[in-house]
Amino acid sequence: MSPGKPSILVTGGAGYIGSHTVLALKQAGYDVVILDNLVYGHRDLVEQVLQVELIIGDTSDRALLDNLFQSRNFAAVMHFSAYAYVGESVTDPAKYYRNNVVGTLVLLEAMQAASIKKFVFSSTCATYGVPDVVPIPENHPQNPINPYGTTKLMVERILADFDVAYGLKSVRFRYFNAAGAHPQGLLGEDHNPETHLIPLVLLTALGKRESISIFGTDYPTPDGTCIRDYIHVNDLADAHILGLEYLLKGGESDVFNLGNGQGFSVREVIAAAEQVTGLTIPIVECDRRPGDPPSLIGSGEKARKILGWQPQYPDIKDIVTHAWQWHLGRHK
Ligand code: UFG
Repeated sequence: MSPGKPSILVTGGAGYIGSHTVLALKQAGYDVVILDNLVYGHRDLVEQVLQVELIIGDTSDRALLDNLFQSRNFAAVMHFSAYAYVGESVTDPAKYYRNNVVGTLVLLEAMQAASIKKFVFSSTCATYGVPDVVPIPENHPQNPINPYGTTKLMVERILADFDVAYGLKSVRFRYFNAAGAHPQGLLGEDHNPETHLIPLVLLTALGKRESISIFGTDYPTPDGTCIRDYIHVNDLADAHILGLEYLLKGGESDVFNLGNGQGFSVREVIAAAEQVTGLTIPIVECDRRPGDPPSLIGSGEKARKILGWQPQYPDIKDIVTHAWQWHLGRHK
Protein backbone atom coordinates (compact mmCIF):
# COMPACT_ATOMS: atom_id res chain seq x y z
CA MET A 1 0.00 0.00 0.00
CA SER A 2 1.22 3.53 -0.81
CA PRO A 3 1.56 5.76 2.24
CA GLY A 4 -1.68 7.63 2.79
CA LYS A 5 -3.91 5.37 0.67
CA PRO A 6 -6.68 3.86 2.78
CA SER A 7 -8.11 0.34 2.91
CA ILE A 8 -11.17 -0.44 0.85
CA LEU A 9 -13.54 -3.40 1.19
CA VAL A 10 -14.77 -4.67 -2.18
CA THR A 11 -17.74 -7.02 -2.08
CA GLY A 12 -18.04 -9.18 -5.17
CA GLY A 13 -14.41 -8.46 -6.01
CA ALA A 14 -14.01 -11.94 -7.53
CA GLY A 15 -16.71 -11.19 -10.10
CA TYR A 16 -16.54 -9.56 -13.50
CA ILE A 17 -16.74 -5.81 -12.84
CA GLY A 18 -15.50 -6.16 -9.26
CA SER A 19 -12.28 -7.91 -10.28
CA HIS A 20 -11.40 -5.26 -12.86
CA THR A 21 -12.00 -2.58 -10.24
CA VAL A 22 -9.86 -4.38 -7.64
CA LEU A 23 -6.98 -4.44 -10.12
CA ALA A 24 -7.42 -0.71 -10.80
CA LEU A 25 -7.56 0.00 -7.05
CA LYS A 26 -4.40 -2.00 -6.49
CA GLN A 27 -2.64 -0.21 -9.31
CA ALA A 28 -3.72 3.12 -7.78
CA GLY A 29 -2.07 2.04 -4.51
CA TYR A 30 -5.07 1.16 -2.36
CA ASP A 31 -5.08 -1.65 0.16
CA VAL A 32 -7.93 -3.92 -0.92
CA VAL A 33 -9.80 -6.71 0.83
CA ILE A 34 -12.36 -8.73 -1.14
CA LEU A 35 -15.49 -10.20 0.41
CA ASP A 36 -17.05 -12.69 -2.00
CA ASN A 37 -19.17 -15.78 -1.43
CA LEU A 38 -17.70 -17.32 -4.64
CA VAL A 39 -21.14 -18.40 -5.85
CA TYR A 40 -20.26 -16.74 -9.16
CA GLY A 41 -16.84 -15.25 -8.40
CA HIS A 42 -13.52 -16.77 -9.51
CA ARG A 43 -11.05 -17.74 -6.82
CA ASP A 44 -8.32 -18.47 -9.38
CA LEU A 45 -8.36 -14.88 -10.65
CA VAL A 46 -8.12 -13.50 -7.12
CA GLU A 47 -5.22 -15.78 -6.25
CA GLN A 48 -3.29 -15.61 -9.50
CA VAL A 49 -4.02 -12.14 -10.83
CA LEU A 50 -5.38 -9.85 -8.13
CA GLN A 51 -3.33 -11.24 -5.24
CA VAL A 52 -5.25 -9.46 -2.51
CA GLU A 53 -6.84 -10.83 0.66
CA LEU A 54 -10.02 -12.80 -0.06
CA ILE A 55 -12.60 -13.36 2.63
CA ILE A 56 -15.12 -15.97 1.57
CA GLY A 57 -18.51 -15.02 2.89
CA ASP A 58 -21.78 -13.31 2.40
CA THR A 59 -22.83 -9.71 2.90
CA SER A 60 -25.82 -10.98 4.87
CA ASP A 61 -23.52 -12.50 7.50
CA ARG A 62 -23.67 -9.78 10.13
CA ALA A 63 -21.30 -11.53 12.57
CA LEU A 64 -18.67 -11.87 9.84
CA LEU A 65 -19.05 -8.21 8.92
CA ASP A 66 -18.88 -7.03 12.55
CA ASN A 67 -15.67 -9.01 13.10
CA LEU A 68 -14.19 -7.74 9.86
CA PHE A 69 -15.05 -4.10 10.58
CA GLN A 70 -13.65 -4.38 14.13
CA SER A 71 -10.38 -5.89 13.00
CA ARG A 72 -9.79 -3.60 9.98
CA ASN A 73 -10.09 0.07 9.33
CA PHE A 74 -11.92 0.56 6.03
CA ALA A 75 -12.40 4.05 4.63
CA ALA A 76 -15.09 2.90 2.21
CA VAL A 77 -16.97 -0.09 0.86
CA MET A 78 -17.44 -0.75 -2.85
CA HIS A 79 -20.41 -3.05 -3.31
CA PHE A 80 -20.47 -5.20 -6.44
CA SER A 81 -21.90 -8.42 -5.09
CA ALA A 82 -25.38 -9.04 -6.48
CA TYR A 83 -27.21 -11.58 -8.56
CA ALA A 84 -27.62 -10.14 -12.05
CA TYR A 85 -29.52 -12.59 -14.26
CA VAL A 86 -32.52 -10.62 -15.43
CA GLY A 87 -34.47 -13.71 -16.58
CA GLU A 88 -33.84 -15.60 -13.35
CA SER A 89 -34.96 -12.57 -11.36
CA VAL A 90 -38.38 -12.97 -12.99
CA THR A 91 -38.68 -16.69 -12.19
CA ASP A 92 -37.03 -16.58 -8.75
CA PRO A 93 -37.52 -13.05 -7.39
CA ALA A 94 -37.09 -14.18 -3.76
CA LYS A 95 -33.46 -15.03 -4.47
CA TYR A 96 -32.91 -11.51 -5.82
CA TYR A 97 -34.70 -9.60 -3.07
CA ARG A 98 -32.92 -11.67 -0.40
CA ASN A 99 -29.44 -11.27 -1.81
CA ASN A 100 -29.53 -7.92 -3.54
CA VAL A 101 -31.75 -6.02 -1.10
CA VAL A 102 -31.58 -7.82 2.27
CA GLY A 103 -27.89 -8.67 1.85
CA THR A 104 -27.13 -5.03 1.08
CA LEU A 105 -29.21 -3.80 4.01
CA VAL A 106 -27.26 -6.02 6.43
CA LEU A 107 -24.01 -4.69 4.98
CA LEU A 108 -25.17 -1.09 5.34
CA GLU A 109 -26.28 -1.66 8.93
CA ALA A 110 -22.92 -3.22 9.78
CA MET A 111 -21.18 -0.23 8.17
CA GLN A 112 -23.37 2.11 10.18
CA ALA A 113 -22.44 0.29 13.41
CA ALA A 114 -18.75 0.58 12.47
CA SER A 115 -19.09 4.25 11.42
CA ILE A 116 -17.99 3.57 7.82
CA LYS A 117 -19.66 6.37 5.90
CA LYS A 118 -18.65 5.97 2.28
CA PHE A 119 -20.21 3.56 -0.19
CA VAL A 120 -19.85 3.01 -3.94
CA PHE A 121 -22.80 1.08 -5.34
CA SER A 122 -23.29 -0.84 -8.59
CA SER A 123 -26.70 0.10 -9.90
CA THR A 124 -27.95 -0.39 -13.41
CA CYS A 125 -29.72 1.12 -16.39
CA ALA A 126 -32.28 -1.64 -15.77
CA THR A 127 -33.73 0.69 -13.10
CA TYR A 128 -35.06 2.95 -15.88
CA GLY A 129 -37.27 0.31 -17.50
CA VAL A 130 -38.37 1.34 -20.98
CA PRO A 131 -36.99 4.87 -21.40
CA ASP A 132 -38.95 7.80 -22.82
CA VAL A 133 -35.79 9.36 -24.24
CA VAL A 134 -32.31 8.22 -25.21
CA PRO A 135 -29.57 9.00 -24.28
CA ILE A 136 -31.08 8.56 -20.83
CA PRO A 137 -30.19 11.28 -18.30
CA GLU A 138 -29.88 10.47 -14.58
CA ASN A 139 -33.11 12.32 -13.74
CA HIS A 140 -35.16 10.11 -16.06
CA PRO A 141 -38.02 8.37 -14.17
CA GLN A 142 -37.10 4.93 -12.85
CA ASN A 143 -39.70 2.26 -13.61
CA PRO A 144 -37.91 -1.09 -13.77
CA ILE A 145 -39.62 -3.85 -15.71
CA ASN A 146 -37.98 -6.80 -13.97
CA PRO A 147 -37.21 -7.74 -10.34
CA TYR A 148 -33.45 -7.39 -10.90
CA GLY A 149 -33.89 -3.71 -11.77
CA THR A 150 -36.30 -3.29 -8.87
CA THR A 151 -33.78 -4.67 -6.37
CA LYS A 152 -31.20 -2.15 -7.54
CA LEU A 153 -33.71 0.69 -7.39
CA MET A 154 -34.70 -0.33 -3.85
CA VAL A 155 -31.08 -0.11 -2.75
CA GLU A 156 -30.75 3.30 -4.40
CA ARG A 157 -33.72 4.46 -2.30
CA ILE A 158 -32.25 2.93 0.87
CA LEU A 159 -29.00 4.79 0.20
CA ALA A 160 -30.80 8.12 -0.20
CA ASP A 161 -32.63 7.56 3.11
CA PHE A 162 -29.44 6.44 4.89
CA ASP A 163 -27.75 9.66 3.80
CA VAL A 164 -30.52 11.81 5.28
CA ALA A 165 -30.75 9.81 8.50
CA TYR A 166 -27.19 8.61 9.11
CA GLY A 167 -24.95 10.69 6.87
CA LEU A 168 -23.90 7.75 4.66
CA LYS A 169 -22.35 9.23 1.52
CA SER A 170 -22.77 7.12 -1.59
CA VAL A 171 -21.97 7.19 -5.25
CA ARG A 172 -24.49 5.16 -7.23
CA PHE A 173 -23.34 4.12 -10.68
CA ARG A 174 -25.96 3.05 -13.20
CA TYR A 175 -24.06 0.89 -15.64
CA PHE A 176 -25.19 0.34 -19.17
CA ASN A 177 -23.97 -2.91 -20.76
CA ALA A 178 -20.67 -3.84 -19.18
CA ALA A 179 -18.52 -5.57 -21.78
CA GLY A 180 -14.96 -6.28 -22.90
CA ALA A 181 -12.03 -7.46 -20.83
CA HIS A 182 -8.75 -6.23 -19.42
CA PRO A 183 -6.76 -4.91 -22.43
CA GLN A 184 -3.75 -7.10 -21.55
CA GLY A 185 -5.95 -10.16 -21.10
CA LEU A 186 -5.44 -10.46 -17.32
CA LEU A 187 -9.15 -10.56 -16.50
CA GLY A 188 -12.42 -10.94 -18.36
CA GLU A 189 -16.02 -12.05 -18.37
CA ASP A 190 -16.71 -15.60 -17.30
CA HIS A 191 -20.29 -16.12 -16.15
CA ASN A 192 -21.72 -19.57 -15.60
CA PRO A 193 -24.29 -19.78 -17.05
CA GLU A 194 -23.45 -17.12 -19.62
CA THR A 195 -26.38 -15.07 -20.88
CA HIS A 196 -24.73 -11.91 -22.20
CA LEU A 197 -24.53 -11.15 -25.88
CA ILE A 198 -20.82 -10.49 -26.51
CA PRO A 199 -19.42 -13.54 -24.67
CA LEU A 200 -22.07 -15.76 -26.30
CA VAL A 201 -21.19 -14.44 -29.75
CA LEU A 202 -17.49 -15.10 -29.08
CA LEU A 203 -18.15 -18.57 -27.67
CA THR A 204 -19.99 -19.25 -30.93
CA ALA A 205 -16.98 -17.99 -32.89
CA LEU A 206 -14.81 -20.35 -30.85
CA GLY A 207 -17.08 -23.26 -31.80
CA LYS A 208 -18.21 -23.78 -28.19
CA ARG A 209 -21.77 -23.04 -29.27
CA GLU A 210 -23.48 -23.84 -32.56
CA SER A 211 -25.05 -20.45 -33.20
CA ILE A 212 -26.01 -17.17 -31.63
CA SER A 213 -29.71 -16.53 -31.15
CA ILE A 214 -30.93 -13.06 -32.02
CA PHE A 215 -33.74 -12.34 -29.60
CA GLY A 216 -36.21 -10.35 -31.66
CA THR A 217 -35.88 -8.89 -35.15
CA ASP A 218 -39.06 -6.79 -35.11
CA TYR A 219 -38.07 -4.04 -32.67
CA PRO A 220 -38.65 -0.41 -33.69
CA THR A 221 -34.93 0.06 -34.42
CA PRO A 222 -33.18 0.55 -37.79
CA ASP A 223 -32.33 -3.16 -38.23
CA GLY A 224 -35.09 -4.57 -36.01
CA THR A 225 -32.76 -5.78 -33.24
CA CYS A 226 -32.23 -4.33 -29.77
CA ILE A 227 -29.79 -1.50 -29.27
CA ARG A 228 -27.51 -1.32 -26.22
CA ASP A 229 -24.77 0.99 -25.00
CA TYR A 230 -21.75 -1.29 -24.44
CA ILE A 231 -19.28 0.14 -21.95
CA HIS A 232 -15.78 -1.27 -21.52
CA VAL A 233 -15.25 -2.89 -18.13
CA ASN A 234 -11.94 -1.03 -17.66
CA ASP A 235 -13.76 2.26 -18.21
CA LEU A 236 -16.23 1.18 -15.53
CA ALA A 237 -13.31 0.38 -13.21
CA ASP A 238 -11.80 3.84 -13.83
CA ALA A 239 -15.12 5.46 -12.98
CA HIS A 240 -15.18 3.57 -9.68
CA ILE A 241 -11.78 4.90 -8.68
CA LEU A 242 -12.95 8.43 -9.51
CA GLY A 243 -16.21 7.89 -7.59
CA LEU A 244 -14.31 6.58 -4.57
CA GLU A 245 -11.89 9.50 -4.62
CA TYR A 246 -14.78 11.94 -4.96
CA LEU A 247 -16.28 10.50 -1.75
CA LEU A 248 -12.94 10.36 0.07
CA LYS A 249 -12.49 14.07 -0.69
CA GLY A 250 -15.83 14.78 1.00
CA GLY A 251 -18.18 14.70 -2.01
CA GLU A 252 -21.93 14.60 -1.49
CA SER A 253 -23.99 11.55 -2.46
CA ASP A 254 -24.73 11.44 -6.15
CA VAL A 255 -25.76 9.19 -9.01
CA PHE A 256 -24.03 8.75 -12.37
CA ASN A 257 -24.85 6.90 -15.55
CA LEU A 258 -21.91 5.01 -16.99
CA GLY A 259 -22.48 4.69 -20.71
CA ASN A 260 -20.83 5.90 -23.91
CA GLY A 261 -23.91 7.64 -25.28
CA GLN A 262 -23.72 5.43 -28.36
CA GLY A 263 -25.76 2.35 -29.12
CA PHE A 264 -25.12 -0.80 -31.16
CA SER A 265 -27.72 -3.26 -32.35
CA VAL A 266 -27.41 -7.01 -31.83
CA ARG A 267 -26.64 -7.38 -35.54
CA GLU A 268 -23.96 -4.68 -35.34
CA VAL A 269 -22.32 -6.45 -32.40
CA ILE A 270 -22.26 -9.72 -34.33
CA ALA A 271 -20.80 -7.93 -37.37
CA ALA A 272 -18.09 -6.37 -35.18
CA ALA A 273 -17.29 -9.82 -33.78
CA GLU A 274 -17.01 -11.27 -37.31
CA GLN A 275 -14.59 -8.49 -38.22
CA VAL A 276 -12.48 -8.94 -35.08
CA THR A 277 -12.32 -12.73 -35.25
CA GLY A 278 -12.25 -13.06 -39.03
CA LEU A 279 -14.83 -15.83 -38.65
CA THR A 280 -18.41 -16.24 -39.81
CA ILE A 281 -20.72 -16.50 -36.82
CA PRO A 282 -23.90 -18.53 -37.44
CA ILE A 283 -27.09 -16.79 -36.30
CA VAL A 284 -30.60 -17.98 -35.55
CA GLU A 285 -33.38 -15.42 -35.51
CA CYS A 286 -35.67 -16.02 -32.51
CA ASP A 287 -38.61 -14.45 -30.72
CA ARG A 288 -38.11 -11.50 -28.43
CA ARG A 289 -36.74 -12.24 -24.95
CA PRO A 290 -39.27 -11.05 -22.35
CA GLY A 291 -38.25 -7.92 -20.47
CA ASP A 292 -35.91 -6.46 -23.11
CA PRO A 293 -36.41 -2.73 -23.81
CA PRO A 294 -35.78 -1.92 -27.52
CA SER A 295 -33.06 0.64 -26.92
CA LEU A 296 -30.93 1.58 -23.89
CA ILE A 297 -28.34 4.30 -24.34
CA GLY A 298 -26.92 6.31 -21.48
CA SER A 299 -25.53 9.76 -21.26
CA GLY A 300 -22.21 9.66 -19.39
CA GLU A 301 -21.96 13.48 -19.47
CA LYS A 302 -22.53 13.96 -15.75
CA ALA A 303 -19.74 11.52 -14.81
CA ARG A 304 -17.44 13.30 -17.26
CA LYS A 305 -18.25 16.72 -15.85
CA ILE A 306 -18.30 15.99 -12.13
CA LEU A 307 -15.88 13.08 -11.82
CA GLY A 308 -13.65 13.84 -14.82
CA TRP A 309 -14.38 10.40 -16.28
CA GLN A 310 -12.84 9.80 -19.72
CA PRO A 311 -13.73 6.42 -21.22
CA GLN A 312 -10.67 5.02 -23.00
CA TYR A 313 -12.37 2.34 -25.10
CA PRO A 314 -15.69 3.60 -26.51
CA ASP A 315 -15.10 1.77 -29.80
CA ILE A 316 -17.13 -1.44 -30.01
CA LYS A 317 -14.24 -3.05 -31.93
CA ASP A 318 -11.85 -2.47 -29.00
CA ILE A 319 -14.45 -3.88 -26.62
CA VAL A 320 -14.93 -7.01 -28.74
CA THR A 321 -11.18 -7.36 -29.42
CA HIS A 322 -10.33 -7.36 -25.71
CA ALA A 323 -13.15 -9.81 -24.99
CA TRP A 324 -11.90 -12.05 -27.80
CA GLN A 325 -8.31 -12.04 -26.48
CA TRP A 326 -9.63 -13.02 -23.07
CA HIS A 327 -11.77 -15.84 -24.43
CA LEU A 328 -8.89 -17.17 -26.53
CA GLY A 329 -6.74 -17.32 -23.40
CA ARG A 330 -9.45 -18.72 -21.11
CA HIS A 331 -10.54 -21.50 -23.50
CA LYS A 332 -7.11 -22.65 -24.74
N1 UFG B 1 -29.22 -10.97 -26.90
C1 UFG B 1 -29.45 -11.78 -28.00
N2 UFG B 1 -29.02 -13.07 -27.94
C2 UFG B 1 -28.40 -13.59 -26.86
C3 UFG B 1 -28.17 -12.77 -25.74
C4 UFG B 1 -28.60 -11.45 -25.79
O1 UFG B 1 -30.02 -11.35 -28.99
O2 UFG B 1 -28.06 -14.80 -26.87
C5 UFG B 1 -29.65 -9.58 -26.96
C6 UFG B 1 -30.61 -9.22 -25.86
O3 UFG B 1 -31.93 -9.52 -26.23
C7 UFG B 1 -30.32 -7.74 -25.68
C8 UFG B 1 -28.85 -7.58 -26.06
O4 UFG B 1 -28.52 -8.76 -26.78
O5 UFG B 1 -31.08 -7.01 -26.61
C9 UFG B 1 -27.95 -7.49 -24.86
O6 UFG B 1 -28.30 -8.54 -23.96
P1 UFG B 1 -27.44 -8.93 -22.69
O7 UFG B 1 -28.08 -10.13 -22.08
O8 UFG B 1 -26.00 -9.01 -23.06
O9 UFG B 1 -27.57 -7.67 -21.72
P2 UFG B 1 -28.92 -6.89 -21.28
O10 UFG B 1 -29.15 -5.74 -22.19
O11 UFG B 1 -30.02 -7.83 -21.02
O12 UFG B 1 -28.39 -6.28 -19.92
C10 UFG B 1 -29.26 -6.17 -18.88
C11 UFG B 1 -29.26 -4.74 -18.39
C12 UFG B 1 -28.07 -4.46 -17.57
C13 UFG B 1 -27.92 -5.51 -16.55
C14 UFG B 1 -27.77 -6.83 -17.20
C15 UFG B 1 -27.66 -7.87 -16.13
O13 UFG B 1 -29.32 -3.83 -19.48
O14 UFG B 1 -28.24 -3.23 -16.91
O15 UFG B 1 -28.91 -7.10 -17.95
O16 UFG B 1 -27.12 -9.03 -16.57
F1 UFG B 1 -26.87 -5.24 -15.74
